Amino acid sequence: MISPTMQGALNAQINLEQYSAQLYLAMSAHCAGKSFKGFAHWLKVQSAEETAHAAKLVDFLLARGGHLELKAIAAPPIDFGGVIQVFEQTLAHEKTITGSINALFERARAEKDHASEIALQWYVTEQVEEEAGVGEIVDHLHAIGDQGGAIWYLDSKMGKRGKG
Ligand code: FEO
Repeated sequence: MISPTMQGALNAQINLEQYSAQLYLAMSAHCAGKSFKGFAHWLKVQSAEETAHAAKLVDFLLARGGHLELKAIAAPPIDFGGVIQVFEQTLAHEKTITGSINALFERARAEKDHASEIALQWYVTEQVEEEAGVGEIVDHLHAIGDQGGAIWYLDSKMGKRGKG
């Protein structure tokens, strides 16, 4: 049986993952509105991944006999500026999530909740990948700037995410 504090912390993380899905969907729409269909696609896939992250935590919580306490999901912003700013904000958000996952992991350790600690290892590893992947996109955007032909090449590359 999961402790009340771990249950509360997992429910809060589920809300944060759901907010991430909302945030990336809003960013996707923002990019689509600027005709950057590839960046929009990448962010939409990212949004779906965040929904999956939340669902995986829900399954774990329920398997431990915990209660799911869904809360309202905060509204994301509507405007995110240029494409470079969009991905800088994505990277900053992923760093926030990493901090939150690390805090959860530390809580599991402190409570000697081995099952939660092992389940959270997947998220710790995932955050390394998330930050590295988004960091690379930010580096590429800084290198090419958000004007000129190179950004359209990068846009078409981003549009291939999940398509083989
Ligand atoms: Fe669910 Fe992008 O971390």
